[in-house]
Amino acid sequence: MQIVLIPGDGIGKEIAESVKDVSAALNCGIDWLEYEAGAEYYEKSGKLLEDGLLDRIKETGLALKGPTATPIGTGFRSINVQLRQTFRTYANLRPVHSMEGVPSRYENVDLVIFRENTEDLYRGIEYMCDSDTAHGIKMITRKASARIIRAAFDYARENGRKRVTCVHKANIMKMTDGLFLETFDNIAKEYPDIASDSVIIDALCMKLVTDPTPFDVLVTENLYGDIISDLCAGLVGGLGFAPSANIGDDVIIYEAVHGSAPDIAGQDKANPSALLMAFAMLLNDHGMKDKAEKLNNAIADVIREGKTVTADIGGNAGTKEFTKAVIARF
Ligand code: NAI
Repeated sequence: MQIVLIPGDGIGKEIAESVKDVSAALNCGIDWLEYEAGAEYYEKSGKLLEDGLLDRIKETGLALKGPTATPIGTGFRSINVQLRQTFRTYANLRPVHSMEGVPSRYENVDLVIFRENTEDLYRGIEYMCDSDTAHGIKMITRKASARIIRAAFDYARENGRKRVTCVHKANIMKMTDGLFLETFDNIAKEYPDIASDSVIIDALCMKLVTDPTPFDVLVTENLYGDIISDLCAGLVGGLGFAPSANIGDDVIIYEAVHGSAPDIAGQDKANPSALLMAFAMLLNDHGMKDKAEKLNNAIADVIREGKTVTADIGGNAGTKEFTKAVIARF
């Protein structure tokens, strides 16, 4: 199987090495097509993406992506946004679950967030009315709402989940969020086997930090989804353990949620777990469930044991040593 690998910036190369080592040790039979992209590549080449990268993703339909840096206040366009728009990856799927050995506030959290990835305020339709007033347009369409809501219900059905909760603010944004909620209520009727309910975004935040354990599948618009995804990652020990998948009809891009961590780049200090868990999601979705389980169990074992873990969770192992410990568990 051919998969495009984009190591990206900062710690990206180190954690991508970890994935390649694990993939070889698991005999996944993957032919990695490695491409450069990001701020470091831009500095040396004047281009954000290496030639051929987009074509290869189109051909294979699959990519695993490390973090890419987006300097604030420059004309530099986010590579993540560019990839999402090019391949219309409309659903961002983020599983969030507690891991024994990872210091966190809660145990037994096991929820999944479906974030709409293509519209809302993130369409970037903004303009200056005058020098002191800026407008941003929130765009919500029935088509994109229905697509993400169906994706959430289908996922719930296929993965033995019991409940899908719609997150919104329709009490204030009656047209935009009202449309999203109305679409949700209509589609929920097509899935009588899955329970459904809805919650206002501010109330959800309060409930999540008080007790996140009752939540199952959450489906929401782009901006709310962006914020609650990071909030939920924080509830179970941070971004070092947060994988995600950007899903379109023809392409899926798996990635670690965290950034390029420039403060520890090149020092063999990065925790590769999030990218390894994103790789496990890829294996699980593409006919290698047993290998995905093996990898997830190995990561969980090493972390539970706590002897060979990276500094972000209180250990003193390097990226390479952690990876070796995971491989030793196979
Ligand atoms: P960041 O996630 O890179 O770092 C925040 C903190 O978490 C830092 O202290 C870092 O050392 C630590 N950290 C992150 N990942 C880690 C890992 N795997 N192991 C151990 N420690 C880890 O966020 P920051 O500093 O806001 O962003 C840095 C750059 O990354 C920016 O240019 C930003 O645009 C980019 N970024 C890219 C993303 C992507 O490509 N998906 C997502 C988020 C940020």
